[in-house]
Amino acid sequence: MSSKAEEFDLLVREVFAPCYPVVANQIFEKTGVCEGLCLDLGCGNGYLGLAIAEATKMEVCLLDNDPEMLSICERNIIARQLGERVRTQPGDVHRIPLPGQSIQLVVSRGSVFFWEDPVQAFHQIYQVLAPQGMACIGGGFGTVEIKQQIDREMEKRNPGWHEHLRDRIGPGCTDKYPPLLAAAGIDHFEIDHGPTGLWILFGRA
Ligand SMILES: C[S@@+](CC[C@H](N)C(=O)[O-])C[C@H]1O[C@@H](n2cnc3c(N)ncnc32)[C@H](O)[C@@H]1O
Repeated sequence: MSSKAEEFDLLVREVFAPCYPVVANQIFEKTGVCEGLCLDLGCGNGYLGLAIAEATKMEVCLLDNDPEMLSICERNIIARQLGERVRTQPGDVHRIPLPGQSIQLVVSRGSVFFWEDPVQAFHQIYQVLAPQGMACIGGGFGTVEIKQQIDREMEKRNPGWHEHLRDRIGPGCTDKYPPLLAAAGIDHFEIDHGPTGLWILFGRA
């Protein structure tokens, strides 16, 4: 196991953990979807998808292109006794290895910022969305209080933390997504940008 994936898991457990159940509930509120199959894209160690599985009866597929992250997901699935409803899927967001129109809820937190070709990725996400399915893609921390708590800890651990956040979810970041979504053939979308994060919402009619 690479120390990078294990280090990330430790960081998430020590610092980011409180945000996942809150973000999961916000996603249910934003999308209105809490049944069927959920796909967590760029899942990392799986904490958002696991929070969704714990809050609902949804089946969840955790997809990432890093096999070491997925090994940690497997460990987390077992620890939470969610093996009957949660599985891992190696894959790349630019070529999602799942059938078209098969997913009711696509979520992704903190991964879109790394995608080499977001237009291709958004197109792929649209392709796998089932009718009435919804996608919620972006980055966020749940509440202002949780974000402040994470900011305080991350400032100590990473002096570049504020620049990192500004570049990903800060003022001005909203503008870059509409042309990318339009180029992916997605005409109807919403961008929810506030003090705790930036989320792109779209669905299939
Ligand atoms: C900052 S981590 C976020 C992990 C998790 N979603 C979370 O909120 O804790 C970004 C994740 O995106 C994954 N990722 C980046 N580019 C990807 C791609 N093209 N396809 C699939 N996963 C990707 C990385 O391997 C990593 O696990």
